Amino acid sequence: MSDSATLHYQGKDLVFPVITGTENESAMDISLLRKSTGLVTMDYGYQNTGSTRSKITFVDGANGILRYRGYNIEDLAANAMFPETAWLLIYGELPSADQLQKFRQMLTENALIHENLLNFFREMPPSAHPMGILSSIVNALGLFTPRFYDDENKAEAFNFTVANLISKVRTVAAFSYKASIGEPFVYPDAEKSYCANFLNMMFSSKAKPYNVDPLMVQALNTLLIVHADHEQNCSTSTVRMVGSSQASLYASVCAGICALWGPLHGGANQAALETLMQVQQSGMSVKTVMERAKDKNDPFKLSGFGHRVYKSYDPRAKVLKGLVHTFFNKGSLNDPLMEIASELEEAALKDDYFIERKLYPNVDFYSGILYHAMGIPTNMLTVMFAIGRLPGWIAHWKEMHDDPESKINRPRQIYTGHTERPWIKLADRV
Ligand code: ACO
Repeated sequence: MSDSATLHYQGKDLVFPVITGTENESAMDISLLRKSTGLVTMDYGYQNTGSTRSKITFVDGANGILRYRGYNIEDLAANAMFPETAWLLIYGELPSADQLQKFRQMLTENALIHENLLNFFREMPPSAHPMGILSSIVNALGLFTPRFYDDENKAEAFNFTVANLISKVRTVAAFSYKASIGEPFVYPDAEKSYCANFLNMMFSSKAKPYNVDPLMVQALNTLLIVHADHEQNCSTSTVRMVGSSQASLYASVCAGICALWGPLHGGANQAALETLMQVQQSGMSVKTVMERAKDKNDPFKLSGFGHRVYKSYDPRAKVLKGLVHTFFNKGSLNDPLMEIASELEEAALKDDYFIERKLYPNVDFYSGILYHAMGIPTNMLTVMFAIGRLPGWIAHWKEMHDDPESKINRPRQIYTGHTERPWIKLADRV
């Protein structure tokens, strides 16, 4: 493979190095292009721009591969616990038994929220979107934990912040739900695992004791793992962008949550579930759904199909589909949306329109069904995505900070506005 690329511009040949990754992905390094030619590259949405070298996650969309630190998502989903996956993503290796035990201990110790912050939940209108609450509180957490700024023990302060964020984010999520339904908060239980604790804080109440179902714990664990990282997506790039100014991890993660909130990113899982609900409520046949999805004049969209990167089956969807079927067969998940989803998928996989365009179910198609069956309200689906994605954001923030080549992120533009013009007095303006 060539290790340089030549660009012919204004009668000159300019040679640029080609960088090749461990999976043979290549990039032309144009960092000196502007210096030598005055040109910048133009790439709306950074569709073709590599912003960094990264050792965290490998995605091969054509072949449906997703690996965290070299481990296949299928292996992680079948064997790992979420805190173990978080450690792997952030620190680069699977934790030893001792490291994992200490990390779990730190998660337990950091699960509680400062009492002053509880007022924030109480003062918010019940209609406040849980993503707005989550992003605001995550930013506020930084104000309650100034340890992060302890320069003398940077590594220790970072480790503390990791545990503080990963642990508290699930407490914040559960408390925002309880506040929205006007029920008292259920405090974290030191005896429960990460996922069991979350389900208990969400669904337990004085009026109705909640027995944590181990199958639901397993489902939540898998859901969080499959969402834990997906390389340079919108929210992760946002975390890197904000962090590149040396903003704190709290502030950077807060920005990531806001980016994830948008309907084109994390909000897509809500849209996928709502599509299935729409099909159920309207009583539309699968044939009609397929016809409407293919009709360019029809505003109906079959959310949950297609992906910008995966042009074969999304490996995360494959993992979740297996999980849904296992639970459905065991009678643990009894959701009519499941049958609709199965029929739609079967029809899409046989349909020429979907085959030609390489449209397969994406991760959101099955995650929505699983969360719905667990009783997680629809407006909390993006919050669940954020809990899962947090270790990925932290891993990228750390990688960027540890990389001596990192710079403050500052894209260029091509200015297309007015050229210089004279000032107009207020009285003369039309
Ligand atoms: N239903 C019907 N047709 C579709 C669908 C769909 N869900 N998705 C794409 N198509 C069609 C497009 O109309 C287009 O057809 P054309 O070539 O005749 O014009 C063709 O497939 C290619 O579509 P693009 O939007 O160009 O594909 P792209 O890869 O750019 O977009 C995207 C991917 C945005 C995810 C798209 O498939 C989509 O809108 N899907 C539905 C929303 C969704 O499920 N989003 C969640 C993604 S997963 C995640 O974000 C974690």
